[in-house]
Amino acid sequence: MLITFEGIDGAGKSTQVMKLKRYLQERGREVLALREPGGTPVAEEIRELLLESRNDITPVGELLLFAASRAELVQQVIRPALENGNDVILDRFYDSTTAYQGYGRGLDLDMLAEINRIASCSLVPDVTFYLDLTPEDALMRKFSEKSLPLAFESEELDRMENSGLDFYRRVREGYHKIGGENPNRIIIIDALLSPSEIHRKIISSIDALCTKTA
Ligand SMILES: Nc1ncnc2c1ncn2[C@@H]1O[C@H](COP(=O)(O)OP(=O)(O)OP(=O)(O)O)[C@@H](O)[C@H]1O
Ligand SMILES: [Mg+2]
Repeated sequence: MLITFEGIDGAGKSTQVMKLKRYLQERGREVLALREPGGTPVAEEIRELLLESRNDITPVGELLLFAASRAELVQQVIRPALENGNDVILDRFYDSTTAYQGYGRGLDLDMLAEINRIASCSLVPDVTFYLDLTPEDALMRKFSEKSLPLAFESEELDRMENSGLDFYRRVREGYHKIGGENPNRIIIIDALLSPSEIHRKIISSIDALCTKTA
């Protein structure tokens, strides 16, 4: 099964990926948890390029770097793992491209859909959990995590995180549109709930999905 997590930075994706990985492993599943961009040596180098705050990258360049990293990860790691019957949990996948580069940066959505299809080799997640949080709440989490005074720009944030509050508002609206267009795949969860409440919602969806496909 391919399970993906989406949401703006700080929404709680990594926290839930780890919890779900443990849950599935305890049930005897082989689980691979990966984050995007990254996951292969080349994809990790692309990640460095994308997140380094000193790098000045155009929106199209950014799009293609994310796509290149995804193509590596899908072909070298994700597809082989799924073919072996393992579960793969992804911390971000192509919905991030639609939300960030499409709704956030304003790139053409039809063009993005085509690039997403190419980069993911037409792989579609079985289920996607979108953790919904306002950019203000997300930023507060980030700064309290790093014990920093609250500011909307900081050297402590990476290049994507320093894109500004309006950018993140557009990204969040984008995620809502993507969720509305894919109601059978994307499950929207209020990210203000506690980590264990969110986890419970996630595992009940996963268990229901496993029963349906068994
Ligand atoms: N449900 C929650 N309620 C309150 N705080 C949370 C919750 N989930 C995670 N956190 C805290 O919020 C911060 C961000 O969480 P996490 O790293 O899981 O988010 P993320 O979506 O993976 O962020 P990024 O996109 O930056 O990797 C961490 O300090 C984490 O402990
Ligand atoms: Mg994370």
